[in-house]
Amino acid sequence: MQQEWFDKGKKYLANTYNRFPIGIAKGEGCWLWDMNGRRYLDFLSGIAVCNLGHAHKSVVEGLTKQARKLMHISNLFYTEAQIKAAELLVENCFGDKAFFCNSGAEANEAAIKLARRYSWKHHGEGRSQIIAMENSFHGRTIATLSATGQTKFHVGFSPLVEDFVFVPFNDLDAFEKVLTDRTCAVMLECIQSEGGVFVAEKEYLRKIREMTRQKDILLILDEVQTGMGRTGKFFCYEHYGIEPDVMSLAKALGSGFPVGAIVAKDAIMDAFEPGTHASTFGGNPLASAAVTATINTMLEEGIIAKCDKVGAYLYQGMLGLKKKYPGFIVDVRGKGLLLGVEFSTEVNPIVQDFLAEGVIIYASKGNVIRLLPPLIIEKEEIDIFLEIASKIFERHSAK
Ligand SMILES: Cc1ncc(COP(=O)(O)O)c(C=O)c1O
Repeated sequence: MQQEWFDKGKKYLANTYNRFPIGIAKGEGCWLWDMNGRRYLDFLSGIAVCNLGHAHKSVVEGLTKQARKLMHISNLFYTEAQIKAAELLVENCFGDKAFFCNSGAEANEAAIKLARRYSWKHHGEGRSQIIAMENSFHGRTIATLSATGQTKFHVGFSPLVEDFVFVPFNDLDAFEKVLTDRTCAVMLECIQSEGGVFVAEKEYLRKIREMTRQKDILLILDEVQTGMGRTGKFFCYEHYGIEPDVMSLAKALGSGFPVGAIVAKDAIMDAFEPGTHASTFGGNPLASAAVTATINTMLEEGIIAKCDKVGAYLYQGMLGLKKKYPGFIVDVRGKGLLLGVEFSTEVNPIVQDFLAEGVIIYASKGNVIRLLPPLIIEKEEIDIFLEIASKIFERHSAK
């Protein structure tokens, strides 16, 4: 039955994804079921989106209630739903105001536009350079692609947007060297997840914050993947004892309902005036209901502390496996439930074996697999994962 759908999908869908040969029909908590009724343990969460698991009751209720009342009205009007979502979001982070859009790329587009507009307003023409990181990932639109420091994504899309310069991640000397009077912003991820799960060093980020403050250069943190509790804090910047000027969010912000946002202090967000930036769907009542339900649930159910705890349990479990299979597992890194496991071998056959055993995981750049289970995962479910992982690693390490 699944094959018929795969054939139809190949016929009607643009060929932009290498899809797994599985058709997912439904999900509940940390589990997914395919079209044939086979169950899978989800260690991907729709790529760090379903942090509250699948079909969380509060999110479903929040969305259904709002859908019955008002789904869309445009940003020409105030809505209670959007104001509530913005209040909840900014009251739980460094910012004063939120701008809502629909995806991570769009949030980063907004951040790039805001940085240039702020600089233009306060420092005049020509200060448009943005420093970004090698190995970064910020999205697939033309500006966010231009900010993405992986040339493989650029092929065939020239000319890209001008004035992005790239420096190696965690290299302060290199960063200092490219700072000029024309720099308006620095854009980076606290953890380069798509790039292979590389974590920013504390001193590095703190120094960047210091230097950018001195020169009124905006620090844009892309928390599209690291935000919303994923790393064991509400937002990843909290691990570093710093605050960004602009933060971009999406993915888990709406628990699977498409919504993105940027957050900034008043002094910065004020660079956007009526007519300077917009989005038809951005933060519509339905998307906003998803944000509100997501944040309320995270707070009420203590999801962040839970992520920190089970994240440490999974990390320890993986370290145990690294010890058991030395030379095969090279490194385990990350924070909370955003973990990368680096192997001495190509990981695609490992990912396929996990699938065959009923566990969904995904590769990152290099020989790295990413572990991104829902934050509601229980220790017992992690134990199931570790047992299967051990069996698979045993097989592959012996090759
Ligand atoms: C750090 C980061 N920024 C931006 C994006 C782009 O988000 P979207 O696919 O919602 O446009 C992603 C997606 O993986 C991401 O991981």
